[in-house]
Amino acid sequence: MSESDKPIEALLQEERVFTPPVECEKSANIRDRAVYEQAKKDPEAFWSNAAESLEWFKKWDQVLDWKPPLAKWFIGGKINVSVNCLDRHVRSWRRNKAAFIWEGEKGEERVLTFGDLFREVNKFSNAMKKLGVVKGDRVTIYMPMIPELPIALLACARIGAPHSVVFGGFSAESLRDRINDADSKLVITADGSYRRGQIVPLKQNVDAAIEGCACVEKVVVVKRIGESASINFDEKRDVWWHDVVESAPKYCEPEPMDSEDPLFILYTSGTTAKPKGILHTTGGYLLGASLTHKWVFDVKEEDVYWCSADIGWVTGHSYIVYGPLANGTTGILYEGSPDWPDKDRWWGMVEKYGVNIFYTAPTAIRAVMKWGEAYPEKHDLSSLRLLGTVGEPINPEAWMWYHEKIGKGRCPIVDTWWQTETGSIMISPLPGLTSTKPGSATFPLPGIDADVVDEAGKTVPLGGGGYLVIKSPWPSMARTIYGNAERYEETYWKRFGNNVYFAGDGCKRDKDGYFWLLGRVDDVMNISGHRLSTMEVESALVDHQQVAEAAVIGKQDDVKGEAIAAFVTLKEGINGSPEKIDELKKHVAQKIGPIARPESIYFTAELPKTRSGKIMRRLLRDIAEGRALGDTTTLADASVVNQLKNQYEED
Ligand code: WTA
Repeated sequence: MSESDKPIEALLQEERVFTPPVECEKSANIRDRAVYEQAKKDPEAFWSNAAESLEWFKKWDQVLDWKPPLAKWFIGGKINVSVNCLDRHVRSWRRNKAAFIWEGEKGEERVLTFGDLFREVNKFSNAMKKLGVVKGDRVTIYMPMIPELPIALLACARIGAPHSVVFGGFSAESLRDRINDADSKLVITADGSYRRGQIVPLKQNVDAAIEGCACVEKVVVVKRIGESASINFDEKRDVWWHDVVESAPKYCEPEPMDSEDPLFILYTSGTTAKPKGILHTTGGYLLGASLTHKWVFDVKEEDVYWCSADIGWVTGHSYIVYGPLANGTTGILYEGSPDWPDKDRWWGMVEKYGVNIFYTAPTAIRAVMKWGEAYPEKHDLSSLRLLGTVGEPINPEAWMWYHEKIGKGRCPIVDTWWQTETGSIMISPLPGLTSTKPGSATFPLPGIDADVVDEAGKTVPLGGGGYLVIKSPWPSMARTIYGNAERYEETYWKRFGNNVYFAGDGCKRDKDGYFWLLGRVDDVMNISGHRLSTMEVESALVDHQQVAEAAVIGKQDDVKGEAIAAFVTLKEGINGSPEKIDELKKHVAQKIGPIARPESIYFTAELPKTRSGKIMRRLLRDIAEGRALGDTTTLADASVVNQLKNQYEED
């Protein structure tokens, strides 16, 4: 049995404890434990004091207005995020400090100093204004990991147009839904991007997506590929990025935003088929992202920092763009895959750029582990000082491997728990203070009032498990679901009363109070650290004309964490075949995007349902993972399960 298969009780017996390295203890940005107490005693004073680190046009009149579940932070404050990320650095010696070191998948390099980034952001801000974008308009961004992506985000922030970034791996149809939901006026894309040597046809997807979007007036296209992208260009609607930027004035007055004005919308999967547009506002979000970036990653002025996420996810928003830039940090931006052209690409880059801090996902660590230690061993990784993980629970085996083979036993690991909705890291070690245990995100950060409760909302004593909740508001919390305030309250603030935030994760605490995240307790899957709802994939499957019914589950997977397994009932007269499996997999990839492609599809004459008609996913999971079946007494027809199980075992 590998460690990842051990039951949680075994995890809670974890005896290995790693104390902070002495140098880290001595030099960390946060060295005094008193900060936890101070934050607890007077949270408003704590946050107010922290907010002084940002540059405001006008300071706030009131720190918090909390009418559960609605929070407003730094009321009356006026601020602009791009000023905090750029202008204040450009006024200092940091003008010539690298903000981003970019590497394309093909190996091209581009360094943008804060001065360069400032100039490009200002020009693109003016270009957008000229295209008719005004404060409050939504802009959808569907781009590869090239410098124009953070430039686009920051320019939106500068002119006060909330952005909605859609990950480049989503399909045209997913993009269309998100553009329509946000009612975006402008779409920014590229003629394509490179992924494992192949061209990803981003512009083609945009063309297909906006066929159904009345709201879109203009499309800005970055030329990333050139001729070989062979895109269609609609002269009336499409404009080239380089054309609109060329003639744009080089300074754009930043919009003085209200602290509570929206900064962005980011879609994420919930428990229904329709993704939710999580809305974040300006002042509180920036404070959360910048403060946690500084504290958790212990970033120093001279550090080279690399978060390997895509800006299409919240991790990229908070820890590639806003947090690091607000702190004046030099960050790596990489366009491609970790295994292209070979499986040591990342480690080659760590060596080449002297990366000090590296932040990635457990699924990536498990993939690297599988490829073998020879790849990291080819490179000098001695520049690394601190390692981080995010996105899913990390199994102790992967944690230890990361610690030993990448961090060479020297680097503290910060396992950071948070969500799109929380805006910034909530539970994590502070590297100069916290002793870590492999597999535990350790403790809530100062100012974060997290707890583990039972069904009735009562705190579970140490040693027990239940639901993770947050009992007080925090500045970077989501404010609503765009266009659906009711769903926001329903999803997060009803389960345990309207002043307790329900995260949707299970959690246990050990006898020492360490938090051990256990994964989702709802129908949200975590596929390679990406959130997808079972309903989303089910509705993509039943959208196929030959499918009658489908049930989808996340099945435990050694590398991905969870892999999608689908049980499908075909319509009368249609037969299942290996070709049909391929066809259905392709159909889902086309509907949602390649990340949603089921790993396995099983045909079945019927799905196991309770007498009230609910699909029994627990049983499907047992079958998919080859476990003995549990209680089936509530099943309407128990023979369905046995048939399914037999069929599965024959495979
Ligand atoms: C999971 C990503 C365990 C969790 C920042 C959460 C984690 C969901 C961790 C949010 C972690 C994230 N340990 N589980 N360190 N980090 N998760 O919105 O289930 O893409 O609810 O945000 O990922 O995913 P999201």
